[in-house]
Amino acid sequence: MKIAILGAMVEEITPILARVQIQKEHEIGHNRYYEACYKNLELVIAYSKIGKVNAALSASVMFLHFGAQKLIFSGVAGGIAESLKVGDLVVADKLCQHDVDITAFGHPFGFIPETTLFYEADSGLNVLAINAAKSCNLRFQIGTIATGDQFIASPERKNWVAKQFNAIALEMEGAAVAAICAALGKPFCVLRAISDAADADANVSFDTFLEKSARESADLLFLMLEQM
Ligand code: ADE
Repeated sequence: MKIAILGAMVEEITPILARVQIQKEHEIGHNRYYEACYKNLELVIAYSKIGKVNAALSASVMFLHFGAQKLIFSGVAGGIAESLKVGDLVVADKLCQHDVDITAFGHPFGFIPETTLFYEADSGLNVLAINAAKSCNLRFQIGTIATGDQFIASPERKNWVAKQFNAIALEMEGAAVAAICAALGKPFCVLRAISDAADADANVSFDTFLEKSARESADLLFLMLEQM
C-alpha cells in the first residue's frame, strides 16, 4: 500500500523527509516527488506550494501517477477557536472552501453545484491520529477546517469563517485535497498544528512558528505511521 504524504511548504515536509529513507526523486509539473520507505510502508512525499490549485495538482499526481491509495496532509494552520494555542494540533473531521461564493445564484457560501459543501475525512485515519495524540498527551482538537486562497490576518474575516462554517481552524490547501480525494474515492486525513491566530499579528506569528508547528504536525504523522 502506497501512502501519499503532502505538505504545502518545504518547511512542512523537511521534518518528514529527515525521518524516511528516500529512494527516488521525480520532477513533475514543477514539483518534486520523493518515493520513500518508512519501516514497511511505501510513501510518496511532496510539498505542493501554497494554495488550492497547487494542492489539487499534487494530490492528483500522487494518486494518478504514483498510485497512492490514501493521503495524509501535514502542515500548519491559523487557529479560529479561542482555545487553540500555537503548537496545538487539529485533526479535520470535515473541510470546506470558505472562499467559494456563488451566492448570486442562491447557493450557500462554500458550495459548488454537483459537489458537496463539506468533505469528510476518513474515520479510520482520524482514529489513528486521535489515538496517537491521546497516547502522547498531545493538545489536539477535532473539528472543521476551512480552506481558501487567502492568508487570513483579520479578526473580521476569521470570525465570519467561524460563524459561516463552524470551523475551528483555517488554512489554504486542505479542502482542495479533500475534493480530489472525494472525486477519486481515496481516503484522506488532514493534520495541522497551529502557527498563528489568523489575527492582525498572524504574519509575524506564522513566520516565527512555521518550522516548530510543522514539526509538531510531522511528529503526529509519524505516530500514525507507526500504527499502519
Ligand atoms: N495557514 C497558517 N496560518 C494561516 C492563516 N492565518 N491563514 C491562512 N492559512 C494559514
